[in-house]
Amino acid sequence: MLYKRDFIDQRIKSVIRTSESCIGEGKVASYIPELANVNPDNFALSITSVTGESFNYGNYDYDFSIQSICKVLLLIMALHDNDPEAVYNKVGSEPTKYEFNSLVPITDKASNPFINAGAITTASMILGNSVDDKFDRILDYYKKLSKHEKAYLMEEVYSSEMETTDRNKAIAYYLKSKEIFDDDPEMVLDLYIRACSISTNVVGLSRMGAVLANKGFEIDSHYNLLSKSEVQIVLSQMATCGMYEKSGRYLMNVGIPSKSGVSGGILGVVPGVCGIGVYSPRLDETGNSVRGKEIFNMLGQELDLSIFIH
Ligand code: DON
Repeated sequence: MLYKRDFIDQRIKSVIRTSESCIGEGKVASYIPELANVNPDNFALSITSVTGESFNYGNYDYDFSIQSICKVLLLIMALHDNDPEAVYNKVGSEPTKYEFNSLVPITDKASNPFINAGAITTASMILGNSVDDKFDRILDYYKKLSKHEKAYLMEEVYSSEMETTDRNKAIAYYLKSKEIFDDDPEMVLDLYIRACSISTNVVGLSRMGAVLANKGFEIDSHYNLLSKSEVQIVLSQMATCGMYEKSGRYLMNVGIPSKSGVSGGILGVVPGVCGIGVYSPRLDETGNSVRGKEIFNMLGQELDLSIFIH
């Protein structure tokens, strides 16, 4: 990190205190009924630097479902299993002004891998003999990236979403009709919803972010988990599409490639510096954590984390 530990710790604590003014703003997601069964004021923050320092605050070991942050994992795995051209033949790379579960941005293909249609597409490109097999690969890979060894499938979240996922079902069938994939749409959807239901905590997110910030190398062992071109693709897509239809404004304000999920998590990556994980379940109208966004905004300014001001 750019500053001494005590200075960073004080700045982070002051950011957390200031962000308390956001408590009460926004609404917890309820379109997946199980997601509403949380303490709306729960809060956690974790930063892991590429030099191995960690800064953890609030309920940092509280597990929540990863939701759309899994779209980062699905993209990485699709890129592992296929050439980038093959992946981007099936999914676009451009931001959209439409909401994350909209059917509109699917013309010949989904506009980017971080809306639902795009992530259902990348899920369809992950190799394996069965849905179980593919899911195990995703979970194992997440454990490697995050060092969150206890990560598991949150069964209640998974079944709750499977019962209410008509929109995603429509998207999956529509993609199949566009010949984006040949597999059974129900199986592809199942894999996508399972991936959204992986348990994480902010420490796992910040560690995964630190690997991305470290050119794809593990922080402790320096083992290479991702190629530089995979890092380049994933971070540029996080910067341009990670916060849905608010991605442009968020990048302008915060300057940190990020990816949000409807359970209230946000993953951020400051290349060469650190990974950041925040959790606060009250969301704005686009599905991004209200307090999480504010924390990123203030941290960016207080610790000079914007990728544009280096
Ligand atoms: O497919 C869905 O609707 C959810 N499983 C994930 C959506 C999500 O996290 C969008 N995030 N902001």
